[in-house]
Amino acid sequence: MDYSGVGIAITGCGSAAPETAIDNDRLSEIMDTSDEWIASRTGIRQRRLSDASGSLVQLATEAARGAIEMAGIEPIDLDLILLATSTPDDMFGSACQVQAALGASQAVAFDLTAACSGFVFGLVTAAQYIRTGTYRNVLLIGADVLSRWVDWSDRRTCVLFGDGAGAVVMQANTVDRLLGFELRSDGSQHHCLNLAYSGEPKALLNDCEITQGQFRSLTMNGQEVYRFAVKRVPEVIEKALFRANITVDAIDWLLLHQANQRILDAVAHRLGIPSEKVISNLAKYGNTSAASIPLALDEAVRGGAVKLGETIAVSGFGAGLTWGAAVFQWGR
Ligand code: UT7
Repeated sequence: MDYSGVGIAITGCGSAAPETAIDNDRLSEIMDTSDEWIASRTGIRQRRLSDASGSLVQLATEAARGAIEMAGIEPIDLDLILLATSTPDDMFGSACQVQAALGASQAVAFDLTAACSGFVFGLVTAAQYIRTGTYRNVLLIGADVLSRWVDWSDRRTCVLFGDGAGAVVMQANTVDRLLGFELRSDGSQHHCLNLAYSGEPKALLNDCEITQGQFRSLTMNGQEVYRFAVKRVPEVIEKALFRANITVDAIDWLLLHQANQRILDAVAHRLGIPSEKVISNLAKYGNTSAASIPLALDEAVRGGAVKLGETIAVSGFGAGLTWGAAVFQWGR
């Protein structure tokens, strides 16, 4: 069989968020901040937070169920499950637990870590398996529970993040709906945004010292990351458009990682994309890291804004540093 030239379609989406919604005023009860500051600097009004009984696997599974149902397939039809997350329930990965919860016994499952770029990196990774003919039905989930890892005494970062999950089903298709993409990384800027391991030296044997420790809270140089996003995201979208052989006018929707409304506005402005074409739901969820793009996509599709065949440019950016963009047409 000639596997070359297999097209890709994104045929279903789903999302999930914890029930608990905490608005900016509630945060100002526990730290020196205000709704005025958070809303004017970021556009965020509230975020959903996973409570002690919630898990990353639960959120990811719920989002996945919605995507599988919309795609009109069964979990048993899945060949591959990719879980883009930086906050697994298990350091060895959480994708297999999602596979078990779904009953997707034929699917191979693994985690992919690329922070807030995770969904876009996952989309492109999944696409390679489909293009080569290796797999036909792929479930891609972006899910994060960053409330576990932010420093709740650091008002510069903790107010920005929320918890959630989003998912898509990607399928082999006669027509290729994934028009173009571009991925980038720059580890020299890792210090701008990280959640690093910190260990204490421990003598195991006379001649063998290991370290034992834990991960520290998320740290971010907000201004550096802001500048990076506003410069690099338009570039990478333009590159993806070039590869797709289309111009910016062909974009029906711009869907960026939901980090900050000012970043969304600045990127749209630089690309000359009118604000009506910019999908934004960060006011309700804050920055949900790998979940933010599929969560916003799911709301836009189910809300009737995004219609079959429309062209969407997505772009993720964040820790690594990593950034990337993909251009696709929604549906089969
Ligand atoms: O998902 C990964 C990608 N991440 C991002 O894209 C984040 C990119 N960066 C940003 O979105 C923005 O840089 C922030 C929203 C994080 C910060 O906005 P900013 O306009 O760059 O504010 P700033 O850090 O320059 O802080 C301005 C002032 C400071 O006070 P002084 O030093 O001027 O007196 C901060 O201490 O605002 C203060 N501040 C706050 N005040 C009230 C910082 N955080 C808060 C807060 N409430 N939560």
